Amino acid sequence: MRAGIATITPIYLLSLIVWSSLACRSGGAWGRTSVLSIEASVAGAPSGPPEPATAADIILRTEKLSKRFGNRLVVNEIGLEVRRGDVFGLLGPNGSGKTTTLRMILNLIWPTAGSIYLFGQNTAEGNNHHAALRRIGAIVEQPAFYPYLTGAENLQGVAVFAGLADAATTRNRIQEVLTTVGLATYQGSYRTYSLGMKQRLGIAAALLTSPELIILDEPTNGLDPAGMVDVRALIGRLAQGGTTVLLSSHLLHEVQQVCTRVAILKDGKLLTQGAVSELLASSTGVLVSFAQAEQLPQAAGILLDAIKNGADWLRGAQYVLPEPGSWTPPGGWCLLADAPADRAADVNALLGGHGIYPAEVRRSEGNLEQYFLKLTGGQQQQSATVVPLMPTSHDQQPGGNA
Ligand SMILES: Nc1ncnc2c1ncn2[C@@H]1O[C@H](COP(=O)(O)OP(=O)(O)OP(=O)(O)O)[C@@H](O)[C@H]1O
Ligand SMILES: [Mg+2]
Repeated sequence: MRAGIATITPIYLLSLIVWSSLACRSGGAWGRTSVLSIEASVAGAPSGPPEPATAADIILRTEKLSKRFGNRLVVNEIGLEVRRGDVFGLLGPNGSGKTTTLRMILNLIWPTAGSIYLFGQNTAEGNNHHAALRRIGAIVEQPAFYPYLTGAENLQGVAVFAGLADAATTRNRIQEVLTTVGLATYQGSYRTYSLGMKQRLGIAAALLTSPELIILDEPTNGLDPAGMVDVRALIGRLAQGGTTVLLSSHLLHEVQQVCTRVAILKDGKLLTQGAVSELLASSTGVLVSFAQAEQLPQAAGILLDAIKNGADWLRGAQYVLPEPGSWTPPGGWCLLADAPADRAADVNALLGGHGIYPAEVRRSEGNLEQYFLKLTGGQQQQSATVVPLMPTSHDQQPGGNA
């Protein structure tokens, strides 16, 4: 094996493939205006008791983990908890501190303050961090593979540096991980790989040592939709096979489809963490669209009046943009009634009772993008006005001049 990969040593980094997060630097969904709150029904983490997790369940825990670069505190006292079996998404806009956090967990940079516990051990004590890293596979920046070698040949090189003997068991393991990532039958050299195949070979390399935890920094970054589907399916298979996955992403929609639990960072601070299903429960509702723009604020007024008059199944409403690909009503906005999704008929009846007939009423199962915007009070919005809580008039709302 030639010199290039040798530069990836030391030992604990042998399962750590360096991966670039330079591609796809767009703000994704984070900077987009898509929600106007009429009534803030969620101002923080969802209510309800936290799920119990025993100490043995917790693979990674950070306590007040912080990192300062010069005068800038880019990670600010975050407390993460990744449990065995999680597909855990570390989410946040560009520059929110995701990669910096992962780099601290992987001992690539030192924390300014705070603690990291991996597999129950404080990584600051003794040899704990190195020992823990042997149980982790990771891709944090650009993987270094030889362009003229095949996937299997490249993995043989990685195996050597990972301390795996050049034995039949290693060759079997290489075939196994190539099969896992869907590259076992492709015989071309690395330089002929698509970006998605390169990502998957990186994941295969990180899997060689059969890690209990795999850490992936923006694993779908720069991939086309088909590549994203492949990587998402792969992550699902890893989780089914018992590997805990910690991944970072700024693509909320992506993460929603693959993660079981998420933590949301913004400006280095942890805004919330929890089960995706619990977080999304606060974004579910009934989506209503109208054929005439002026009906939108009228409908909002009817819903808010109903709340004031004791409709306890209704918690609020907000203006949202239609989902990409769906019908855009005149004026461009829809109304999301904050109610259980199965109350769609009640929303319809309520509006119909006041002579307002929606062009479309449907269940909305919620999405992390809306949740994030609710959580931050619409701070991401660039030009739109945030409508105050419980408005007394409806004259400042999208579509309304009344
Ligand atoms: N070595 C460094 N020196 C100085 N500042 C740094 C360094 N590494 C990161 N930063 C800064 O810390 C902040 C957080 O960066 P980080 O790469 O952790 O963000 P991120 O959430 O991973 O963003 P992205 O989605 O763009 O990958 C950024 O403002 C970045 O410029
Ligand atoms: Mg990053």
